[in-house]
Amino acid sequence: MRKNIVAGNWKMNNDLAQTETLITALQGQTKTSNAEVMVAPTFTNLWHAFQSLRESDIEVVAQNMHFAENGAYTGEISASMLKSIGVKTVILGHSERRAYFNETDESLAKKVDAALANDMRVIFCFGEELADRKAGNEEAVVGSQIKNALFHLGAEAFKNIVLAYEPVWAIGTGETASPEQAQDMHAFIRKTLSDKYGNDLADSVSILYGGSVKPANAQEIFSKPDVDGGLIGGAALKAEDFYAIVNAF
Ligand code: 13P
Repeated sequence: MRKNIVAGNWKMNNDLAQTETLITALQGQTKTSNAEVMVAPTFTNLWHAFQSLRESDIEVVAQNMHFAENGAYTGEISASMLKSIGVKTVILGHSERRAYFNETDESLAKKVDAALANDMRVIFCFGEELADRKAGNEEAVVGSQIKNALFHLGAEAFKNIVLAYEPVWAIGTGETASPEQAQDMHAFIRKTLSDKYGNDLADSVSILYGGSVKPANAQEIFSKPDVDGGLIGGAALKAEDFYAIVNAF
């Protein structure tokens, strides 16, 4: 059975003191669902967060990494550096990285390879822009993002891949995809996987939805059969809201 996962992407928010405050608040919450819980602080706070949460059931994950192992890449962080501080999962391909830092399907394929070569788990993000949806191209866009970055992989690799569908028009806008829109796209994503790798593999991969998930809408979105969890931005910055979402399963 695939896992339910709720991951908080803190983006470029929270300095060290704010990170400590949020972690303390998270530790005061009670989990009543079976969802795996993850949080993704900024690079500067990863080590501290990892140390603070090592006895908890919250996994600390990274928001990005470079594809090279080391070398002359000023400002970048490698998979082995993340692993050396205990981080075992990395978010790759977030639409903000694609939009503001020129990440492409090709560079993301290299990052995915580097993460998997280091035995890390990847939360691979993708999603269409508003113009794509208005033109009815959302499935074509999402299908090609998945194929270009992941379909060179063998089936074994998907044990360490989680997919995150995040329609760009729903991120930070307060406008969420309807539960039906999310379900339709997740079913399309699973079919895309099934066509290439077979039903068993497609059924085993967790597909998260991201984009304005809040306590008020999480339960309805998570009730859809192909939605296996959420990648949460704004609502992950408040411990109570985040756990209301975690417990929406
Ligand atoms: P919001 O939940 O703030 O819309 O952000 C979603 C997101 O980008 C998570 O990665």
